[in-house]
Order: sequence, then structure tokens, then C-alpha cells
Amino acid sequence: MKWLFYVIVLVYMFYRSVYGLKPVENGLILDPVTYGDDDFLKVGAHKSISCKATNRNQKVEWIDPNGKYVKHLPTNRVFSQEHFVAAMRGRAPALVLTITNAVVKDTGVYRCRSGNLEKNVSLCVVDPSDFVDTQPEVSADLGRSITLSCQAKGDPEPRLLWSRNGETITDDETPAKYRLMTKYNIQGFEGLLTITSLEPEDSGIYSCVSIQEHPQAEDCSHTKIFNITLNVNYPPIFEDGNDTKLVYAKENQLVDIICSAAGFPTPTYRWFKDIGDEVLYEFDKKQIKLLEDDTQAVLSIKANQSTFGQRFKCQASNDHGASDKYFVLLKIETPVSPKDVSLSDSSYDSVQLQVTWYGEIQFPISAFIVEYLKVSGDATRKTIAPKEAAFKRSDEAIITKFEDAEDSGFIFELEGLDEDSTYWVRVKVQNDAGESLWSTPAKVSTTVQSVDDSEETTTVETPDAEPETAGDEEPMSDGAFYGIFFAVGIFVVSFVCMFAMRMVK
Ligand SMILES: *[C@@H]1O[C@H](CO)[C@@H](O)[C@H](O)[C@H]1NC(C)=O
Ligand SMILES: *[C@@H]1O[C@H](CO)[C@@H](O)[C@H](O)[C@H]1NC(C)=O
Ligand SMILES: *[C@@H]1O[C@H](CO)[C@@H](O)[C@H](O)[C@H]1NC(C)=O
Ligand SMILES: *[C@@H]1O[C@H](CO)[C@@H](O)[C@H](O)[C@H]1NC(C)=O
Repeated sequence: MKWLFYVIVLVYMFYRSVYGLKPVENGLILDPVTYGDDDFLKVGAHKSISCKATNRNQKVEWIDPNGKYVKHLPTNRVFSQEHFVAAMRGRAPALVLTITNAVVKDTGVYRCRSGNLEKNVSLCVVDPSDFVDTQPEVSADLGRSITLSCQAKGDPEPRLLWSRNGETITDDETPAKYRLMTKYNIQGFEGLLTITSLEPEDSGIYSCVSIQEHPQAEDCSHTKIFNITLNVNYPPIFEDGNDTKLVYAKENQLVDIICSAAGFPTPTYRWFKDIGDEVLYEFDKKQIKLLEDDTQAVLSIKANQSTFGQRFKCQASNDHGASDKYFVLLKIETPVSPKDVSLSDSSYDSVQLQVTWYGEIQFPISAFIVEYLKVSGDATRKTIAPKEAAFKRSDEAIITKFEDAEDSGFIFELEGLDEDSTYWVRVKVQNDAGESLWSTPAKVSTTVQSVDDSEETTTVETPDAEPETAGDEEPMSDGAFYGIFFAVGIFVVSFVCMFAMRMVK
């Protein structure tokens, strides 16, 4: 009798602690829909979406995007079916929405409802577009116009646009370089891009972008790209002009003379030696090295007394024409010291210097060496250039970036100077054969820094980050709750039992 009582009490306690100590609230669990590699469901595919209830007796229903209940009729293309699945406590119903042989119209928000609980899921069905009858490569002649065409078919109906180097092409510039048009035919939409007055720069990749969007489902779209390569045919052009190029070399040096012309198709090259009286001697193909995808033809020549002064001709040709460029091999001479160094422009921390010579220069320049000396005290009074010894304390800069100012020498910039200061500068020239003597010193000044230049970068003070609210008061977990409940239960129940037993006795 006593034992039976104990067993009943324990079994009851166990039952209470596992089930029904606290009624489980009704709830719905709906996992997001995934589509594998794509971000949509392909037309014709199948999809099941399960909506789980948390309570055993919960009634669940699916509502389609049109607001209709999805029937429990497995013979329908779209139907729902009830399953029992393992849930938090025992088994709970799950209503599985199944879409077979999906069509584009199935796209939309499906609602899983239970009483006044509701969870939404969006489904995206697309018949991805395909490019039909679209040529991947086209060519056209310089100066002409060309129309690129791209046809795409799909559901939803694709919208076509064109882009180049990541930028969408529009036809609202004037003068019109591009004209855009869209046509519709049995093959679907056809996008036409007309490029007028073709130039070499128009060569390249044009992307036809097909965008499929559902008007009612924003995040349901699909973009596909088809690249069309346009080749503009044009005769070879020497980008540095047709002028004769001077090539300097030291005695017995092996020099590479590089000939490179732009053109499409890629030009082929021939090299000649001009042996006077308009007679040319052609070099053997084996003596010419082709570099960088055949865009450079290099002739290697030993520079010596018999080749100095020699003229060489490079001929670049393709189907659309030929261009010639002459090269003359010259003995490299030591640079001559400049006639004059003058200030051509200045800022608060730099000066632009212009270096000139008497007559044309007959040597290449690889660098300018500059010595500069800051004038202390009243600069206007010091008109006499410093002595050679003074330059021993000067700063030095080696400048390899300079501009050819055609007939007026060369221009370069000397940077890192002090504001509103005067300097004595002198310049010498360097090349492979040696260095020139120093130029006569010149006096140059930097300017006062203007407000614009000194625009201070205002440091924005970031407000102190708000102290994080301590979130450690976590609600007790279910396990802990039941654990404590169980322990207290045993205690209470055994206490009650003891009482009861006394009464039984
Ligand atoms: C679910 O979608 C319907 C309409 O599509 C909307 O009225 C409802 O508010 C949505 N419910 C939730 C929980 O987002
Ligand atoms: C199309 O060309 C662009 C470069 O313009 C490239 O980034 C992209 O991967 C190409 N796309 C395809 C589908 O070939
Ligand atoms: C110059 O070099 C070429 C090729 O090495 C050689 O044939 C020629 O005799 C040389 N001429 C002189 C003047 O050294
Ligand atoms: C260079 O020469 C080609 C033909 O040899 C000619 O068509 C072209 O106009 C010339 N270019 C310049 C800039 O003189």
C-alpha cells in the first residue's frame, strides 16, 4: 500500500515535469526557402516548404499569394499535406506546402497561418533567359557604324540593357555616339546598340544584360550577361607618331630597337636597313624578336662605328594598311651643361624649373640632378650666387620624371621645399655616357601657403561609445527551470507524502 503510493507519486511527478508543467504557447516555425546555386526556383521544378506548429493540437493552414487556401489535395499541382514531426514535446503537426512543376505565376508570398499567428515566405519562380542568335564577336571598319544585337527569351519577359566596363550605356549624350533600340519578335526581346563613327577606342567588350523581374515580388529577379566583342578594323598607327626616332647607344653596346604599332587585326612587322639611295635591305625574320603577344617587333643591333648614323625602317602592316617608322642609331654623347635654369611656376612647397640649352641637344637625358640651398635672412639683398664650397651643404634631388617642352628645353618639379622661402638651385644632366657640368645657380622662391592649400582636416570627435547594456540577465533556460522544478517537486511531494503517511498510519 505504502509502496504503491510512492510509485504513483513518482510517476505523477515525472509526468508533470516532462509534460504540461507549463502549457506550450502556440507557435509556427518556418525555415527560409533556399534554391541551391540559384536565387530562384526554375520553372518546372518542385519545392516543398514545411510549416511546423509547436503544439499538438494546433491547426495550420497555407494561403497562396492570391489569398486562397491551399487544399489538401495531392492531385493538385500545388497542394498541402499534413505530417507529424518531432517537436519540442512529442510530435507536432507540420503542414507541407508542395509545388510541383512550378510556373512563373507561383511566385509570391505564401502565408502559413494558425489562428491569428502568421508567418510569410516568398517564393521566386523564374524561367531564366537564354540568349538566342547572338553573335559573340563582330568587327567593323574605322569610321563606320555598327549595330550590335542581342536577343533574349525568358519568363518574366527580360528587360535588356547594354554596358561597357561596368557602366550602363545611355543614348542621351550629344553628339550621339550610341543609339539604343528594343524590338520584339517571336525570339523574344531584341536589344540593339548602334555605335556610330567607330574609333579604335570603341574596340572591346560590350555586355548585353538581360534582367528578369517580377513586378509583384521585388527580390525575385534574375540577371544574365552576354558579352559581345567588337573589333574595330584600322590600319597600323604608331602611338608616338611617325617622326624618326633617335636611338642612343654606347660603342659595342647591343641595342634593342622596339617597333610597336596599334591596329586591328594585330599588325605584322618587317625591319629594313636603309643603305642609301632609297635602297633598303630587309632583315631576316629570324633576326626579329616578337614580344608581348606579337605587339612589339624588336631588332637587336650592335652599336659600333659601322652602325652609328644608320637609319632603320620598321614597317607595320595589316589588312587595312601599312605604316612606316624610321629609327636612327646614334652614339650617346655626354650631356652638355644647360644654358639656363629658370622658374616656370611655384607653389608653397615646390618649384617648377625649366632648363634650356643653346640650340638642339644631341644627347638623351636619363635624369636631372639638382642641388638646392636655402637662403637665410633677407633673400632680396643676397644677389650674389653662393660659392662652390657653399653647395657642399646643399640638398640634392635626382629627378627622373620630366617633360619635354619641345623647343624650350625640359620642365620638371622640385618638391618638398619650405613655404615662402628662397633657394639657390643648380642643375646638371645625367645619361648613360656621363654627366654634364653644373648650370649657373639660379634663385627661386616658393609662395605663401593660401587658405585653400592649408584646409585643415578637421578631426571629428567621435562621441564615447554608449556603455553596453549588460545583457547577462538571461531568462532561465527550460532545462534549468524543469530541473529546479523537479527538485523542489520531490521535496514538496515527499513532505506531503510524509504527512499523508502519518495520517494513513
Ligand atoms: C504576410 O504577407 C501579407 C500579404 O502578402 C501581409 O498582409 C502580412 O502582413 C504579412 N505578414 C507578416 C507576418 O509579415
Ligand atoms: C563579360 O565581360 C566582363 C568584362 O567586361 C567580365 O568581367 C565578365 O566576366 C564577362 N562575362 C561573361 C559572362 O563572360
Ligand atoms: C660592328 O659590328 C658588326 C657586328 O658585330 C661587325 O660585323 C662589324 O665589323 C663591326 N664594325 C666595326 C667598325 O667595328
Ligand atoms: C603616319 O603614316 C601613315 C602612313 O604611313 C599615315 O597614314 C598617317 O597619317 C601618318 N601619321 C601621322 C601622325 O603623320
